[in-house]
Amino acid sequence: MQVIRDLAALRAATAGLRAGGRRLALVPTMGALHRGHLELVAEARRHAEAVAVSIFVNPLQFGPNEDLARYPRDEAGDLEKLRGAGCDLVWMPGVETMYPPGAATVIEVGGPSEGFEGAARPSHFRGVATVCTKLFQQTGADTAVFGEKDWQQLQVVRRVVSDLDMPIGIVGYPTVREEDGLAFSSRNARLSPGERALAPVLAREMREAIAAMAGGAVPGPALEAAILRLRAAGFAPDYLALVEPGTLRPWPEDTPGQARLLAAARLGDVRLLDNMPAGLPG
Ligand code: PAF
Repeated sequence: MQVIRDLAALRAATAGLRAGGRRLALVPTMGALHRGHLELVAEARRHAEAVAVSIFVNPLQFGPNEDLARYPRDEAGDLEKLRGAGCDLVWMPGVETMYPPGAATVIEVGGPSEGFEGAARPSHFRGVATVCTKLFQQTGADTAVFGEKDWQQLQVVRRVVSDLDMPIGIVGYPTVREEDGLAFSSRNARLSPGERALAPVLAREMREAIAAMAGGAVPGPALEAAILRLRAAGFAPDYLALVEPGTLRPWPEDTPGQARLLAAARLGDVRLLDNMPAGLPG
């Protein structure tokens, strides 16, 4: 497994991996890798002969009040996990490599980046779109694999790739969950033991609301009731919203079909995100 930190070496290494028409799949990450990331690597392998993982804690996607310095980092542990996962190349640029002095170009996305995380974290998706565009350019990957856990991020990346005619396929991989239903996330490491025990209640309430709506309950009141139950349990819910899966526009009332339920709730100072498909009956 090659570990690369400078751009010229990356270009040479990816040219080697792509020689003879071999396909390259990229898994973009910010490190602190968990089982969910390793499943993305395995999925990448199903789409390409060579697999690259990027590890870069992207300052551009953190707001001024978000603690970039506290984002979990574990370089040695990450590299060990990737060796075991059969990754071919790890791209670990420093901040100066990714954003050299004088860098002045960003990718601004409308549509799916508006609302939800885009409202809670202004400039977050500008940072995500900019770094992903750079990672796609730098690696020349044929495919990039993203977890569906960050559903809005996945739709934003799909939008950018489509709007800028980028020659890369975007693959979404279903959310990987702990046995108790909590979605894997690097941020889970910051939950206290009490918060960790409570955290799966978010997914449980989502599943119950989806089952109620599938059984004919009106979405608005069903989601309101779930929000009240989450508050009573000790969460500070931000949103629980039924949306059109690709655009993230509100799901039109009284419409049957396959919607997406998006959720964000704080437990202590950890913001938990989750989402699930929600089938609405005719
Ligand atoms: O999901 C993440 O880990 C990050 O937002 C990403 C896609 C690697 C961009 O920095």
